[in-house]
Formats: sequence, C-alpha cells, structure tokens
Amino acid sequence: MENAAATAADRASPRHPPHRADRPAATAATGPHDASPGKRRVMSSRLPGFYRLPVHQRQDVLAEAVGLSPADHAALASETPLDLAQADLMIENAVGIFALPYGVAVNFLVNGRDYLVPMVTEEPSIVAAASFAARLVRDCGGIEAEAEPSLMTGQIHVIDLADAEAAAVRVRQAAPRLVETARALQPRMTARGCGAREVTATALPDGTLLVHLVADVGDAMGANAVNTLVEAMAPHIVNVTGGTANIRIVSNLADRRLARARTTIPQELLRTRERTGDDVARRIARACDLATHSPHRAATHNKGIMNGVDSVALATGQDWRAIEAGAHAYAAHAGTYLPLATWRYGDGYLHGRIELPLAVGTVGARISNSPRAGLSLRLLGVAGARELAAVMAAVGLAQNLAALRALADEGIQHGHMALHLRTENHPSPAPSRPEPHPAAP
Ligand code: MEV
Repeated sequence: MENAAATAADRASPRHPPHRADRPAATAATGPHDASPGKRRVMSSRLPGFYRLPVHQRQDVLAEAVGLSPADHAALASETPLDLAQADLMIENAVGIFALPYGVAVNFLVNGRDYLVPMVTEEPSIVAAASFAARLVRDCGGIEAEAEPSLMTGQIHVIDLADAEAAAVRVRQAAPRLVETARALQPRMTARGCGAREVTATALPDGTLLVHLVADVGDAMGANAVNTLVEAMAPHIVNVTGGTANIRIVSNLADRRLARARTTIPQELLRTRERTGDDVARRIARACDLATHSPHRAATHNKGIMNGVDSVALATGQDWRAIEAGAHAYAAHAGTYLPLATWRYGDGYLHGRIELPLAVGTVGARISNSPRAGLSLRLLGVAGARELAAVMAAVGLAQNLAALRALADEGIQHGHMALHLRTENHPSPAPSRPEPHPAAP
C-alpha cells in the first residue's frame, strides 16, 4: 500500500519558481550564544523512500545522513532508551519506564539549512503531516525562522506594604543597583554574557507590589536559574520596599523569548485532486480568519500547532508543560484567545507566519538526564537554544499548514481513521508500521 503522505511529500515539486520578492531577507536563527552551526549538519533532509524502509534500515540511513557516532547509532537502535536506574533517580516512586514512538520528520528546510526533526508522539499522523508540509514548502524556499534572545522573567510578589505606589518608585530608582546585585549572584552566567538584565515594579490594585526580574538564560530553559535568582533577590527587594516577600517564581509566559517563522507558498502547490490551488489557499485563509473570530476554533487551530511543537519538545527533553502554558497564555495576551499562526492569501501566494514564546534549552539537567534528548539535539544539529526554538516554530507552522490544507479539502477523518483502524487491526506487541496520511494532522 502506498504511503499517501510520504509519496505526496516526495512528489511535491516546484510548479512555480520560488517567489521571494515580498519576503524579508533570510534571518539567522542563531544569536550570540549559537552563532556557529552545530557539529553535525545534515547534507539533505530529503530522504525519498525513507518511510518504506524497515525501522533498522531507517536508523542506518539516519545515522549516515547526519554522521552519528557509533555510540549514538547504537543508542538510537537500543530498545531501552532509558535505564530503570536512571528513571529511579529522576522522579520519586518510579516503578517503570513509559515508552512512546520516536520518529523523524523529513524535508525541513529552515533558513536555507536542512534539518531532520526528531519527534516523540503517540498520534499516528503527526510526523507524516509535518514531513508533507515541509516538502510542500521546501521548493519555494522552505521556512524562515528566528528566535529572540533567551530572556526569562521571574516574579517577586511583595505584600504587607504601607504604600505600594511609593515602593514601586523606590524599586525603579534602585533598579540599576538591583540588576548589578543580581548579576553578582550568578557570576558564571554573567561571565557567559548572560544573567540579569532588568528590574521593574508595578503597584497592583490590591495594595501589593509585583517586581519583575528579567534575565538572559542563554542556552538553558532557564526556570531553575531564574527561580534561584528571584529567591536570592527577594531579601534585597524587601530591603528597598519594606513589606514581606510572598511568591518568588519564574513566569511561564515567556513573552520576552518569542520565536517566529514564516513561509510563502504559490497557490499552484496547494492543488489537490478535488480543488484548485486557488480554492485551497482561499479556504485556508478563511479558516484562519475563523480562528481569529472564534476562540473555540483558535484552540483547535493552536492544538494542531502544538502537535508539532510538543513532539519536538518531548524528543529534545524540554519542559513541554511550560511551553504549552506559555503558548496558550501568549495566544490570549491581546485579551481574547487568538491563533498563534496566521495565513493570508493574496496575489496568488499564501503567506503564513507564526509567533509564540518558546522557552527551550539545549543544556541542563533535563537534557543530560535523558539520553534520547541529547541524541535528538545531535540529530537536529542545533548549536543552541535559539536555533532550536526557531526550528520548533517552523515545525509548528508546517504542522498547522498540513492540518489546514487537509481541513480545507477532504477533511481529516478519512486519513485519520484509516490510521487508527490499521493500528487497531494489528495485534500488539509488534504492529507493522502504520501508513501515515497527509490529510491528518
Ligand atoms: C488534531 O490533532 C489537530 C487538528 O484538529 C488541528 C486543526 O484543526 O487545525 C486537525
């Protein structure tokens, strides 16, 4: 049986010359912390026929494509990705290992670089849909993406104040000195060019004070660094304000750490068996308009985006709950819940863009504790957190495109249910590989 998604992905070819005139110049995904590319660079993320191979051959092809070390190749092939002893160190009351499929989305071209994208998910169609959309857009330039510096915000709540407004003024006046104190508390971060950047204060209507401490956490996710910092800074804030320190914790609305991606697709590339490309592009744009008017639709639209983002987050050992919390809080930051990705159709081109906070790391205990997370980062070949965030934003945009294209055409159920039925029809423990379908998310 043909793999509809992958064959469609393999077939998708430029029926139109790349159109870049209306696109911003390619933007580097990398920043000061990750200016050099990762050690392992994929020659091409186009691996035609990859989906047809047995799992062990796929592992060999992948290892060859990215130049995996023999140790990483063996780790990839291992059916025990995490030792029970290691799991026992990671959480309380560990009683076993819970496993999920580990796959790779092909075809990704982001800022002119090829990426093979590791994904962990139980949903049958996510990897195929991402690969399909990445194939669709790669011949018109792929996806451009970037991520802001890794600024995280920590909050210190001060209560029991006589005059919160006056306390806020005192914090603002002391801000440069407080930033220096915070930087001195984390000398290693500061030496790396990271560390505290800003202290701000807001008097709240209930007579309490909210202090925000913003720090550059470099290639870390940063929650631990920021939590340590706000706990250490709380006595200094109390010295300035009076009152008592209440909660001191990182904010998961990482809105100083946004990642963005965009792509432009000639309508001809969107043609399906049933519809012209013009019709599909128009229907995708209208569906996106619907998401701006209906939070009920926006939630589902964003869920489709997070299908991709979360799968990469899991594969690379990220705190996916933090990413989810940040994404949905950001979707609501205008006062109403909005789509994180939007699509506009004009002059024969479908223009897509996405913006969301992505607090991700390429260093830290969560990654070093998980052998597969390190392997995933080496597979991706990202040099740092900002490059990882840029790639994840690109994956979110591709996942959204795949879902909207299917919804604008035949709907997702046909492919989706076929996948579920096939897996159900194969008795465990060793079902043969389900056939992915581009119509599903
Ligand atoms: C299902 O996992 C995701 C979709 O519902 C996303 C969407 O509707 O845009 C297909």
